Amino acid sequence: MNDQAAVLREKVLKKHQNSLRDCKTIAVLSGKGGVGKSNLSLNLSLALMKEKQKVLLFDMDVGMGNIDILIGQTASYTMVDLLEKRLSIRQIIKKGPQDLAYVAGGTGISFVFEWSPSDLGYLIQELSSLTSQYDYMIFDMGAGMSESVLKFLKAVDELIVVTTPEPTSITDAYAAIKLSVSYSVSAPIRLIVNKTLSDKEGNDTYKRFNQAVQQFLNVPISLLGIVPNDQAVQKAVNRQMPFLLQNPKSKASISLAEMVNILIPQDDRTAAKTQGIFIRRLKRFFLER
Ligand SMILES: Nc1ncnc2c1ncn2[C@@H]1O[C@H](COP(=O)(O)OP(=O)(O)OP(=O)(O)O)[C@@H](O)[C@H]1O
Ligand SMILES: [Mg+2]
Repeated sequence: MNDQAAVLREKVLKKHQNSLRDCKTIAVLSGKGGVGKSNLSLNLSLALMKEKQKVLLFDMDVGMGNIDILIGQTASYTMVDLLEKRLSIRQIIKKGPQDLAYVAGGTGISFVFEWSPSDLGYLIQELSSLTSQYDYMIFDMGAGMSESVLKFLKAVDELIVVTTPEPTSITDAYAAIKLSVSYSVSAPIRLIVNKTLSDKEGNDTYKRFNQAVQQFLNVPISLLGIVPNDQAVQKAVNRQMPFLLQNPKSKASISLAEMVNILIPQDDRTAAKTQGIFIRRLKRFFLER
């Protein structure tokens, strides 16, 4: 009987591992709030879709989500329902503009949300049932780095850290990376410098940041992109329409398209290597509890 159970478990695991080949999980985070994570996650998802990638976008700001606001929709089911009612993830996926599949964060909870180990376990189990259907899962993390967020970061394939050139934003981004490193989060880190006044300002910000992180934390960080401070972004936010769709020729849209060029070819090269890693990390994560 035990043998049979073991064989079955092995089969299920193998099935997941085989189906994981192309799904890349990316968490978008920052130190300081309001630096552009949600706008960049949303428009990056759409830019990936333009390149024929299947994307699922998550608003991980549970209870204070705003992805649905950025696209002018109200989701009937959200992360709050997933966690409170244990709805399946398929039940809460909604379709946004251009058929973007997304999961809203939800609003209106009357307490500060903190993930319990069983919430995280449930989410991750649900996620692993979907990895065969998407090329990318993008997680728009809320501001703040709780222990459960750090645990979640341990499971993803890549981190995208967003900062602006402002010193306060840079020091907070540094602190977030420092915390992740001390928590043994080992996913590769890419930086987006958002709301820059010039490419030079963006490049200088990256150089200084990378130098500090290399020197004191001994972790390499690559530059994913520089996004100018662009009125098209604010206009799009006010019209509740992603800037990539509202104004595809805007400077912000062009820099998003360039980021996708950096992301996709690298994925092609590493696809074979990442096969099954997500599931393995999840298993480790379960054991760690
Ligand atoms: N490149 C840009 N140019 C101009 N304005 C921008 C740019 N990126 C973001 N913004 C503005 O910054 C504000 C905050 O953006 P957003 O909500 O995406 O940040 P966030 O990091 O997700 O915030 P939070 O930490 O609260 O979740 C938005 O109102 C948006 O208009
Ligand atoms: Mg946000």
